[in-house]
Amino acid sequence: MGFATWLKQSFPVDQEALIKLTAEPIPNHLKRWWWALGGTPLYMFVVQVITGIMLIFYYVPETDKAYESIAYITYSSDFGWLIRSIHRWSSNIMIAALLLHMMRVFFTRAYQPPRDINWMFGVVLFLLTLMFGFTGYSLVYEQMSYWAMQVGTGIAGATPIVGHWIADFMRGGSEIGQNTLTRFYLFHVVLLPVLIAIAIGVHVYLIRAHGVTELKFKGEEDQEKKTFPLWPDHVFTELIMVTIIMILLIVLSLLFPVQLGEPANPNVTPLHIKPEWYFYPVFRWLKITNLLVGVLGPMVFLLILFFWPFIDKFLDKLFPGKEVGLWIGVIGMLLICAFTVWEIFGH
Ligand code: HEM
Repeated sequence: MGFATWLKQSFPVDQEALIKLTAEPIPNHLKRWWWALGGTPLYMFVVQVITGIMLIFYYVPETDKAYESIAYITYSSDFGWLIRSIHRWSSNIMIAALLLHMMRVFFTRAYQPPRDINWMFGVVLFLLTLMFGFTGYSLVYEQMSYWAMQVGTGIAGATPIVGHWIADFMRGGSEIGQNTLTRFYLFHVVLLPVLIAIAIGVHVYLIRAHGVTELKFKGEEDQEKKTFPLWPDHVFTELIMVTIIMILLIVLSLLFPVQLGEPANPNVTPLHIKPEWYFYPVFRWLKITNLLVGVLGPMVFLLILFFWPFIDKFLDKLFPGKEVGLWIGVIGMLLICAFTVWEIFGH
């Protein structure tokens, strides 16, 4: 019996159904990577899960051993520095790609019905990914990560009505300590990855169910829509993208390996606390407002983002043909960029 016949017999799969499932026609514009940016966060998530599991072999989630275990991974274990660097860089690329993916969906208005719920799922995915980054940064238990935890739980504590409860839940008490580290560890290595994996599953299922928005470009208005098959064309395009991103990831990790700062010291507040770059706009906003406005601002922003498909529809009805939603998006983006640059160069 040949290998193919043996496999067919031992592992009976409905081939017809498989061919039907993978023969989905993809609109031609997805041949360009900037239209298909959604794949990048997915690959980066997979890389993080693999390298994260490798890091767990040595990481010790105890306040007096966490920093030492990271130092061991970075300076003593074989290729530990590389695994840690790839883990950190892939989280950065995941968030950068997510921001670009959201911008492309926003500015092509691909969130319009029937994809409005998928946009809302996307916003939840974005929040979960930010939490993934925040909890991971804290596990290092160096000065910056310890004080980022202080600031982060402090901000959560300023939320009206439920803030006190949220902050105590995050810390596992009123102070940052062992309970906090245990909780952040649990969230980082179990709860968030599982939730993100489920949310990505629903997101991709909905994309598959609705298909990707068919965009018409200048000069193509009256042409018949061009498509190409998912297998093998799209899969090969994605493989090329994966290869390029992997090379980028390795190059970044070799040129800029992740560092280790001073160990956490609850008695010494650093002169300048800096969170990860993707929290810069919120951090700057907090510096120029009081704590309550500082907390309410990002909350209102997230609510607007979440309900954007409905807000945009309402604005369109109110000001037909004026593209108000688009201009709000441009202004919002410029403000976020300005706050980021301000935080990079300001004190
Ligand atoms: C880990 C996170 C995410 C993954 C893996 C992911 C993956 C994908 C993929 C593969 C597509 C197909 C087209 C493309 O690549 O652009 C897509 C489309 C889409 N995504 Fe995401 N995405 C994520 C996060 C988000 C976020 C944060 C939002 C918005 C807030 C979002 C909203 C959408 C929408 C509305 C579509 C449909 C676009 C269309 O029909 O043209 N996604 N996503």
